[in-house]
Amino acid sequence: MIAVGCDHGGFDLMQEVKVFLDSKGIEYKDFGCYNKNAVDYPDIAKDVCAHVVNGEFEKALLFCGTGIGISIAANKVKGIRAAACIDYFSAKHTRLHNNANVLCLGGRVIGAGLACELVDVFLNTDFEGERHQTRIDKITLIEDNN
Ligand code: RB5
Repeated sequence: MIAVGCDHGGFDLMQEVKVFLDSKGIEYKDFGCYNKNAVDYPDIAKDVCAHVVNGEFEKALLFCGTGIGISIAANKVKGIRAAACIDYFSAKHTRLHNNANVLCLGGRVIGAGLACELVDVFLNTDFEGERHQTRIDKITLIEDNN
């Protein structure tokens, strides 16, 4: 089970990705928004990410116009490693090297076909650990002001 959430700028793309998730039998909880009325992406990021760091969901997908604003907001939540991706290599390597737990996509930037490929590789690539864990531990120290 994963979590998904969007603002109005990412609404259409998230609906298309939800169809993809359904087709793959991947269960998700939709934290909204639920229509194209304007909402503030930090509110969505804060809500979804709280449910990731409490262990309810291992991963989340977030959508806004660019994928950037909602990733900036998500990365303010301790324990979240959110990556805004527009290419396959980055979506794969943010799992391999960064153990990213949130993928952020821009509804005004990429189309549904690419988005679904990025989601697929993000959800199906394992973290490599080892030297990359050492680096993530250093990110955690930054979060703790150490
Ligand atoms: C909303 O208009 C837009 O600013 C938002 O979706 C996102 O692109 C911000 O980074």
